[in-house]
Amino acid sequence: MKIYVTENYQAMSRKAANIVSAHVILYPSCVLGLATGSTPVGMYRQLVAWYQKDDLDFSQVKTINLDEYVGLAPTHDQSYRYFMQTNLFDHINIVPANTYVPDGLAPDPEEACRRYNDIIHSLGGIDMQVLGIGHNGHIGFNEPGEAYELETHVVDLAESTIDANSRFFARREDVPRQALTMGIKSIMQARRILVVVSGEGKAGIVRAAFAGPVTPQVPASILQLHPDVTLVGDRAALSKL
Ligand code: F6R
Repeated sequence: MKIYVTENYQAMSRKAANIVSAHVILYPSCVLGLATGSTPVGMYRQLVAWYQKDDLDFSQVKTINLDEYVGLAPTHDQSYRYFMQTNLFDHINIVPANTYVPDGLAPDPEEACRRYNDIIHSLGGIDMQVLGIGHNGHIGFNEPGEAYELETHVVDLAESTIDANSRFFARREDVPRQALTMGIKSIMQARRILVVVSGEGKAGIVRAAFAGPVTPQVPASILQLHPDVTLVGDRAALSKL
């Protein structure tokens, strides 16, 4: 595993964007697995800035996102589709049909998961997967205790995840209780993984994930078994590693 320690959030974002953009430059038609959440926002901002300077071309890139809330429309400002549009897709020259986010409004979510798996396979798998880590160690919405062998599936969100994400909703009751998420198996099949972490609040879980035992109780710990992981974090998030 490669680890980059940066001084602060801004430097972390820039380093992560460097790694993604190097991949896009070397492999213009690559498949990027993308994450939402607060951590990668600065990275996306940096990628947009480099695109606007003509340093990046996304015209052949395909993206496939980790997860989406069940029940939220793409236009809902807390849906992950909306997040991706406003933070990245609306500002770069990616072809809209080449961006995939699970369908939160699918009448049959299980069927939507099967279709999503088919999409991942038909794209030839994920070249580089970007991941954040939840305070409970989740990756995507794979909560502690989740089976390792799943691909995209429907999950019930942990109470701690509902708590953490309620900061984005008017009321805790508004946070969806379920999500569609790529599974640990889908994530582990990505050829490269880029993990971004920031802030002191993540230091404990980062230590548990990368210096503790590999256990389903800390889903991110499985990444220790992946052959090509790059961890980019600011000093605060990596302080206990
Ligand atoms: C987002 C996702 C989540 C987040 C994690 C960390 O698509 O799948 O696993 O990466 O919850 O979120 P932040 O970055 O907000 O701390």
